[in-house]
Amino acid sequence: MADAKELLKVENLGVCFIHGTMEAHALRGIDLSFYEKEIHGLVGESGSGKTVTSTCIMGLLPSPPGEITSGRILFENENLLELSQGQMRSYRGRKIAMVFQEPSKYLNPAFKIGEQITEMLRLHLDMNKEKARERAKELLGLVGLGKDGRVLDSYPHELSGGMKQRAMIAIAISCNPRFLIADEPTTALDVTLQLQILRLIKELKDLLGMGVLFISHDLGVVKEVADRVSVIYAGRIVESSTKGTLFDKPLHPYTKLLMLSIPDAHRRGQRLATIPGRVPDADATPSGCAFHPRCPLADDRCKSENPELRGNEDGHKVACHHAGESWNI
Ligand SMILES: Nc1ncnc2c1ncn2[C@@H]1O[C@H](COP(=O)(O)OP(=O)(O)OP(=O)(O)O)[C@@H](O)[C@H]1O
Ligand SMILES: [Mg+2]
Repeated sequence: MADAKELLKVENLGVCFIHGTMEAHALRGIDLSFYEKEIHGLVGESGSGKTVTSTCIMGLLPSPPGEITSGRILFENENLLELSQGQMRSYRGRKIAMVFQEPSKYLNPAFKIGEQITEMLRLHLDMNKEKARERAKELLGLVGLGKDGRVLDSYPHELSGGMKQRAMIAIAISCNPRFLIADEPTTALDVTLQLQILRLIKELKDLLGMGVLFISHDLGVVKEVADRVSVIYAGRIVESSTKGTLFDKPLHPYTKLLMLSIPDAHRRGQRLATIPGRVPDADATPSGCAFHPRCPLADDRCKSENPELRGNEDGHKVACHHAGESWNI
């Protein structure tokens, strides 16, 4: 991936939610780089800041209560955070698209799938009706919903869960976006369907040359699909690397613990590790390294000094005072 072209860059992004006197620091200065034709997995437990990151990139952070406190999101030489609502609307769907965990919430039950795809094509690409319908048929073929166009005239409730997910992906890629965000797209599906959808996202990424932000709380799913992985904890990136390096040589104790919680054929029969405790609330982030209350390696320094995210010559980045150290499990 050495010659991969950078597509979108998140720099020092900070987000705070303000409710009365309560301030929840959901993102505390995150950096992420996305490349063309690359799936970048963002993984972390519930409440770590994954969805907030994606809503900022889409320009959909609810404000109030959300407020961007620092940073830039660079895409095609522009800082997306400085665009007007109108400019952002024209990016959304056309250049940056998104698929969600629950297609039922996203698909409009009153309109046929074909109508929902052609609406996107007409709105963003100004296609005429006939051309848009032809293209919609093609798109449904691309996502594995048949080339005969039967699904074009189906309503969302007539489709199974996996088919709805595919239809939503067809809508998302309809305008040939440069960047696709997939926020837990397979979490609601059973394992077989999950694998099919992951495979489809990979195929479409290669076919269309998109960069993809793939969000999951499950490192096993990320391992299946991603080329690069960043681990997020309490609104900070704690480790980031290419997938091979991360899985061969994890450096952060949180990453290692996440790995021990993946079912693995080599460790069959052993009990899966669970990480004691939970992600702190964003209005009560611990001092120093936010992971220290749950960390087997924590010492006094970790309680007071927040480790910076530092990279080595291979581009493997980690934020930990004890990076690479091991402990007795
Ligand atoms: N509207 C809001 N008001 C206050 N806090 C919020 C709001 N939305 C999100 N947060 C907080 O921001 C933090 C990050 O939330 P986010 O939804 O990004 O987590 P996530 O990693 O996507 O979790 P999950 O895996 O459950 O989807 C959490 O502490 C959450 O409580
Ligand atoms: Mg989320």
